[in-house]
Amino acid sequence: MEPLTLGIAGVGTVGGGLLELLTTNGAHFANIVGREIRVTGVSARSRDKLRGVAIGGFQWFDDPVALAKDPSNNVFIELIGGEDGVAKAAVEAALQAKKHVVTANKALLAKHGIELARLAEKNGVALNFEAAVAGGIPIIKTLREALGANRVRRVYGILNGTCNFILTQMQSENRPFAEVLKEAQALGYAEADPTFDIGGFDSAHKLALLTSLAFGTKVAFDQIHVEGIQTITEADIEAADSLGYRIKLLGVAAETETGIEARVSPALVLKDSAIAEVSGVTNAIAIEGDFSGSILLVGAGAGAKPTASAVAGDILDIARGLIVPPFVTPVAKLKPHKRAKLDRHYGS
Ligand code: NDP
Ligand code: HSE
Repeated sequence: MEPLTLGIAGVGTVGGGLLELLTTNGAHFANIVGREIRVTGVSARSRDKLRGVAIGGFQWFDDPVALAKDPSNNVFIELIGGEDGVAKAAVEAALQAKKHVVTANKALLAKHGIELARLAEKNGVALNFEAAVAGGIPIIKTLREALGANRVRRVYGILNGTCNFILTQMQSENRPFAEVLKEAQALGYAEADPTFDIGGFDSAHKLALLTSLAFGTKVAFDQIHVEGIQTITEADIEAADSLGYRIKLLGVAAETETGIEARVSPALVLKDSAIAEVSGVTNAIAIEGDFSGSILLVGAGAGAKPTASAVAGDILDIARGLIVPPFVTPVAKLKPHKRAKLDRHYGS
């Protein structure tokens, strides 16, 4: 079988992790998918930047859009980030060129997911985004495929590794917010603009995608109530602790009688609950299906290796010929998201 050829745009934290994974486990892929997976071209801002991975053996592209259009690759991997600009232009160019696309970019999908999914459907190609939500946790495939037969009642959890890392360090080590945020940035967890993390917007981007998959609605980031953790003080954490709670930034989406309640906000969770135990960069997502019952997925929510694992899983699906529509139903048939009045009370 012909090798699957990849063009990778963005070789930072996630792109670098992906190159490391492809080098480490590449030989194994031939066994599990019967096909070689070969990187042919890469693009980033600076060709000469010192990186932890070697990129000299691949064709270099200054412009990710040129890489997206180049016939030397048949799958385009977008790991640049940003809701508009070059990431969007490159993904559109790749889909128009009838190439499969894999992306980790939740900001792009939360804003333009429906139009990009339409473009993918029109061109008969995949738009895979497992890494866009909760890093290494396979939540997209779980919701869309494994739990696809359920009516989901509620999906909620810790969706941002940076915030959970900050809150955990503040709570367990008494470290100041700003210092821990800097560490999260150095570890490659935070977004290029960390306001997206601490302001709750990154969690909301992810929740918008989960809501669409769980309830069969259009992606509607603007319908989500968003509060971040930037105003949480050490005194708040001490007060919560003395009452038997921990503070977690939760994303919650539930179908109510009047519509879909979708929110991101700091919440008090009982110290002995499963979600309170989730510490550091770890994410946790609970899904309540009518037949499956409650399922809790826990794992690394950010970082080079776990995120690369999710991106590579999407690539393997394409290598196997497994092309699932991004939002299951033809996107044209997705229901509008009808926002419910916010209910202040929900379980831990
Ligand atoms: P980084 O900032 O580490 O890497 C971004 C890469 O994109 C860099 O290689 C950069 O080039 C390149 N780039 C930026 N602008 C341009 C441009 N105009 N033209 C060409 N290349 C460009 O980001 P991450 O790897 O952390 O994130 C990538 C994506 O993955 C984002 O969408 C993010 O939200 C998502 N994501 C990140 C996770 C994480 O843990 N970091 C987890 C899950 C998803 P250069 O290296 O030369 O600067
Ligand atoms: N900045 C994100 C986080 C990366 O901290 O969760 C993973 O999506």
